[in-house]
This record gives sequence, C-alpha cells and structure tokens, in this order.
Amino acid sequence: MTVNRKILTLDEFTLQQLRQFPSATGELSSLLRDIALAAKRINVEVNKAGLVDILGDAGTINVQGEDVKKLDIYANNQFMGVLQHGISCAGIGSEELDDFVVFDDEVSNNSKYVVQFDPLDGSGNIDVNISIGTIFSVYRRISPLGTPCVKEDFLQAGNRQVAAGYIIYGSSTMYVYATKRGVNGFTLDPAIGEFCLSHPDIKCPPDGKVYSVNHGNFFQYHENIREYINVCQKKTKETGGPYTQRYIGSMVADVHRNLMKGGIFMYPGTTDKPGGKLRLLYECNPFAFIVEVAGGRATDGTRRILDIPPTHLHERTPFFIGSKNMMDELDTYLEKGK
Ligand code: AHG
Ligand code: MN
Ligand code: MN
Repeated sequence: MTVNRKILTLDEFTLQQLRQFPSATGELSSLLRDIALAAKRINVEVNKAGLVDILGDAGTINVQGEDVKKLDIYANNQFMGVLQHGISCAGIGSEELDDFVVFDDEVSNNSKYVVQFDPLDGSGNIDVNISIGTIFSVYRRISPLGTPCVKEDFLQAGNRQVAAGYIIYGSSTMYVYATKRGVNGFTLDPAIGEFCLSHPDIKCPPDGKVYSVNHGNFFQYHENIREYINVCQKKTKETGGPYTQRYIGSMVADVHRNLMKGGIFMYPGTTDKPGGKLRLLYECNPFAFIVEVAGGRATDGTRRILDIPPTHLHERTPFFIGSKNMMDELDTYLEKGK
C-alpha cells in the first residue's frame, strides 16, 4: 500500500534538494534542521509569553544601547546552543552579542559555515501580542577548515550568503529560507511539531499596493524620500494605486507580508540617525538575499545592499526593500539631485 502524502516536511525537502548534488556533504541541510529546532523551542516560549514571567525587560541593555527583553536572551541562547552542538557551524554573530563567538572545538573547527542572526526581531511587540520573528544568514567561511573561524568570516558582503531565512511567530509559525535556487516557506504543524512545505517557490510580485515606513519620522527624512512618500499617498487607480500604508514595527512581519503580496518597506536614515536603525549583517543582508532570490530588490538608497562591504559587526544602514517595480520607481525619486 502506498501512503498518499503530498506535503513534505522541512527535512524531507532539504534532503530532496541535497540528492540533486551528489557532492554535497549535507552540512547545510543539517544546519537548517538545527535552526528549525531552535525555532520550535522559541515558538513554545513566544506562545506562552503571556503566562509566564518571561515578558518585559531583562533589566540589561544590549550592545546597541537598547533594552533587552527576556525572550531576546532566551532566543539568542537557543540559537547559539543548537548551532554549537550541531556539526555545521564554526561560530556565530548575533545582534545581542558584543562580539562574534568562535565555537573552537574539533567538530566546529571542521565545519564549513558561520551563521549570523537577529534572535528576536520586533521584540518591542512581544508583550502586546504582535508577530515577531527570527532572522538568520549563512556564509561559507573563508578561513581554512580545521582552524577556528575568524572575524573576516563574519565581515563578508551579503552577496556571499549561501542561505538566509527567517521564522515568523504569527497567526501561524512559518520558516522561510532561501538559497540561490529559490525561496520556500514551511508552516509549523503543531500536531506533529514539524515545519511542512506550505509555500513552495515564493516569488515577490513585481508590483504591489502597500508601502511600509515609520511615518512618525517623516520630517526627519531626506526631501527625496518625503516626496516619494507623498507620491505613495497620492496614487490613484490611474497611477497604480491607491496604496495602503502598513507598518507594524516588526520588520519580519512587514517584509514577509510585502514578499507574499507585493509592497515596499523602507527604514531610511533620519536627521538624528543618518545610518538608520537596521543592522546590515543581522537584518538587511538576509532579507535582501531572500527578496532578491524571489525577484525583488534591496538597496540603501544608492547601493545594492548585498554589495556593501561590511566594516564592523553591528553596522547599520538605511534600508529599502520590496517589489521590483516599486523599488525602480523609488529610485527615480532618490536619484533626484541626490
Ligand atoms: P529589534 O527588535 O531586533 O531591535 O528590531 C526592531 C526593528 C524592526 O523589526 C522594525 O522594523 C524597526 O525596528 C522598528 O523601528 P521603529 O520603531 O523605529 O519604526
Ligand atoms: Mn531586529
Ligand atoms: Mn532583535
């Protein structure tokens, strides 16, 4: 008797992909599985956050001077733990940690990859029951196998990513990851505790009707950006609109929606913070990779995000990302007089 089961689990899918490359070692599949385990553990805590003493501030401030929420720390430790105990990762960089961490044991020193992550994105939304997420990015290390990983492994340009992904803890929990071959989304089936392929071969629609930006900062944006926002507000049926403004303060949720439905997300520099808020390594590079593989674009206003050579771990950058035609239109305003 054959069992008619059409939905692949994450493991089945990554192994199926692996079989297409006879020389592949399986390290990436194993790494993606380790990440799924951390995601499932974080998901359990996120879902009971209202019940246990895990809400709110841990009373410390992270390396970027922001309040650290307890779940941030829990998520950071889960990620670090699974990657350290797995067989694929030589070290990690995290938004929550001052410096990168070298695992430096025999297995890890012989592992191909380093991983960078934002363990909990949108953490200001935890205690108000709004979707939050985890973002990660995988690089092949450039230091020799058999040695501990080094800083240069973590300061590679985003175009050298092997894979990137995010987990969204929302109305359902989804794990989306991209390799150069495509973007695929898996929804957690709580009954069996497995991520199941629900959104194969995700493509970002080239056009959209949503723009996402923090309007509270409007008067701190460059005039070209203000002009583009005004254009978004004035769109009519005849000019491809009307547009809708959607901004929840969790980039994972905002960019996920725009990736699925079409749209543009912007976190420009402000007069106070010309470099913007978002971190190149933990937030912008992974999303730029995912959205580009899906057919969209991502820039800092002038440069392709993935081509920016990072100079330090916690570097920030203005960030514009989304549907190709919307990004192209934005460019016509950003290029005005520079
Ligand atoms: P994090 O919780 O990791 O610090 O990131 C929050 C980020 C991002 O998710 C969101 O888009 C942005 O901060 C919101 O910032 P503003 O409140 O300044 O708009
Ligand atoms: Mn974040
Ligand atoms: Mn975070």
